[in-house]
Amino acid sequence: MAGVFITGSSDGLGLMAARLLIEKGHAVVLHGRNDARSRYALAAATGARGAVSGDLSTIAGATAVADAVNKLGRFDAVIHNAGVGYRQTRRVETEPGVPAMFAVNVLAPYILTALIERPDRLVYVSSGTHHGVRPRMDDLLWTKRAWSGFSAYAESKLCDVLLAFAVARRWKDVKSNALEPGWVPTKMGGPSAPDDLQQGCVTQAWLATSNDELAQSTANYFYHQRLPSRTRSRTTSGPWRSY
Ligand SMILES: NC(=O)c1ccc[n+]([C@@H]2O[C@H](COP(=O)([O-])OP(=O)(O)OC[C@H]3O[C@@H](n4cnc5c(N)ncnc54)[C@H](OP(=O)(O)O)[C@@H]3O)[C@@H](O)[C@H]2O)c1
Repeated sequence: MAGVFITGSSDGLGLMAARLLIEKGHAVVLHGRNDARSRYALAAATGARGAVSGDLSTIAGATAVADAVNKLGRFDAVIHNAGVGYRQTRRVETEPGVPAMFAVNVLAPYILTALIERPDRLVYVSSGTHHGVRPRMDDLLWTKRAWSGFSAYAESKLCDVLLAFAVARRWKDVKSNALEPGWVPTKMGGPSAPDDLQQGCVTQAWLATSNDELAQSTANYFYHQRLPSRTRSRTTSGPWRSY
């Protein structure tokens, strides 16, 4: 049994991954943006060990989440799942100079990674939208360009991959990986998202807990429990591995 903390587990893929892990007998701690969302998460994921509250769009909120997690002891794995999507039509700052998109999708995982007692495994939920993005590394906070919600989202999800790989390079004792879940019909994905919702939460749970050799690798990027290949078909998947 592994102890797993999952950010943004009051809805969508985070909640689904929590349910999957609880079903497998793991000790899962949930996270909601406030106490009401944490209570909702606890009711929706029966068997969870607890929940931590905090708004990840602010540095104070992310720091409070890290403090609360550390009070619960050391976790075997942390899944950085919470995110805001590409439908943000304008740049809204939640910290001086920092748009909410960057704060939740990039700054919060960075703060939590730095402040939460180091687990054995770190899992960062990215997105396929970052493929082909041409990031403006000199303007990740979007102060020099006209806002594009889609590009800002794609860049933020590229940053999650960079974070996963940077952590893997620096912390040799931690397995740190990123993944894309497919475009799936959650609140963020929207009702017409074409990919398999059930598969969308499997890879994160597998990376956090499985004894499979591949799940215990580091500095890798996954789609449906597989490494990318040049001829990858986004709709083809083989039998699921155990997680
Ligand atoms: N759905 C897709 O097609 C898709 C595709 C590629 C990647 N992803 C990635 O998958 C992850 C999960 O997305 P999802 O589709 O499950 O989205 P979702 O259904 O919108 O869930 C997002 C979760 O993050 C939480 N969250 C958002 N802002 C927060 C904040 N400021 N503070 C604390 N928690 C906050 C939400 O809380 P509330 O419940 O209170 O809103 C919710 O629990 C994200 O990282 C996303 O980028 C999704």
